[in-house]
Amino acid sequence: MNEKIKIGVVGCGEFSINFIRLFLKHPLVESVCVADNIPEKAKNFGEMFNVSYYDSFEKMLEADINAVAIFTPRHTHGPFVIKALQCGKNVYSAVPMASEITHCQEIVELVKKTGLVYMMGETCIYYPCSIFCKQKYESGEMGNFVYGEAQYHHDISHFSEHHRNDLKAIGVPPFFYPTHSLSMVLSATGSYATKVTAFGYNDVEDDPVFKKGVNIWDNTISNAFSLMRLANGGVIRINECRRIGAKAPSSYISAFYGTKGGYQFSNAQHIFNVSDCVNPIAMTENSDLPDFKQRVANHEWQWDSYAPIQDHRRLPKEYESLENGHMASHKFLIDDFCRAAYNHTLPTVNAWVAARYTIPGLVAFESVKRDGQPLDIPDCGEPPIE
Ligand SMILES: NC(=O)c1ccc[n+]([C@@H]2O[C@H](COP(=O)([O-])OP(=O)(O)OC[C@H]3O[C@@H](n4cnc5c(N)ncnc54)[C@H](O)[C@@H]3O)[C@@H](O)[C@H]2O)c1
Repeated sequence: MNEKIKIGVVGCGEFSINFIRLFLKHPLVESVCVADNIPEKAKNFGEMFNVSYYDSFEKMLEADINAVAIFTPRHTHGPFVIKALQCGKNVYSAVPMASEITHCQEIVELVKKTGLVYMMGETCIYYPCSIFCKQKYESGEMGNFVYGEAQYHHDISHFSEHHRNDLKAIGVPPFFYPTHSLSMVLSATGSYATKVTAFGYNDVEDDPVFKKGVNIWDNTISNAFSLMRLANGGVIRINECRRIGAKAPSSYISAFYGTKGGYQFSNAQHIFNVSDCVNPIAMTENSDLPDFKQRVANHEWQWDSYAPIQDHRRLPKEYESLENGHMASHKFLIDDFCRAAYNHTLPTVNAWVAARYTIPGLVAFESVKRDGQPLDIPDCGEPPIE
């Protein structure tokens, strides 16, 4: 029997606010509660949204909920997801899936065993460039996949002060957060990475972010670059850069080539004459403004406004007045999770797919540490056919 979703959201930080609003308004959601290990944060969110609140994840798991959404720091995701699945809850988790390969594998096994829904909230598969490449590739117009390039550029100076001051966590190895760039090309090709070679840039700046003895990984690498071989014979170049003089966009496919056609990115104009379908509508409407290029370079119009290629008509009407985020992906994420948890179906980025978007980065970091040694990437296989 289909049961409405009673969701507990853990992590009352910067990112979860918008998603709590989306859960509260979703027609398949019956109730929402929140938790944070800083009691004032839990109380603040509880009062702001008028919902029950708890000062620990464990206490929230004992409440009357059938699903959890995890918005805590990255390195906590694996253990929290495993615990929630063991307690019989469906799980929505912010990216990445986990910081250890064994945790990714355990999550896949638990989902297989329990039949529960797990979805990783990967924003970038809903980005217009990903949808465009996927549609063109699947239609056969691009021919066989040859080569792709994607990157996630997020300079440390663009993080909030709260994150920059968290010196234990801010210096995380860039390849521990590989899902934005990997998911864009992998979702388009439908393939997965089998081998990687990677190099890192040892940070030289005069601050304590990427320094030994400061962050919990003793990591000194701020930028990392990889080449991966895919199971379909193609090759991708994936970069994860956190000390880089780039402002916007942060996550994007820069090139995607098949034997018959390709997609190339340039800031406000996509070669292949696709600007109108992949650019946010608000950007196209404002293209006559004198400071148009400046505004595009500053990432204006790329938060809330849909691009024509994103099919937002399928979203609940209750969402119309709510804020969106990350190239208008947030509403698709929560709608996809709620439908999957309610209908007991496989969500878009299910456990098997999430493992393919996460594990290659963890292996790439190992290759960085071994000065580019090519390494095989373990694969968890395909999800069961429904
Ligand atoms: N585009 C994207 O997909 C995207 C963008 C931003 C953030 N994120 C992800 O969202 C997550 C949260 O990011 P954020 O910016 O909100 O971080 P944040 O630091 O603002 O919030 C994290 C919250 O978790 C709480 N917390 C930490 N450890 C906890 C524990 N053991 N038990 C309970 N609560 C705990 C903290 O007190 C804090 O309130 C991160 O994993 C990040 O990777 C994804």
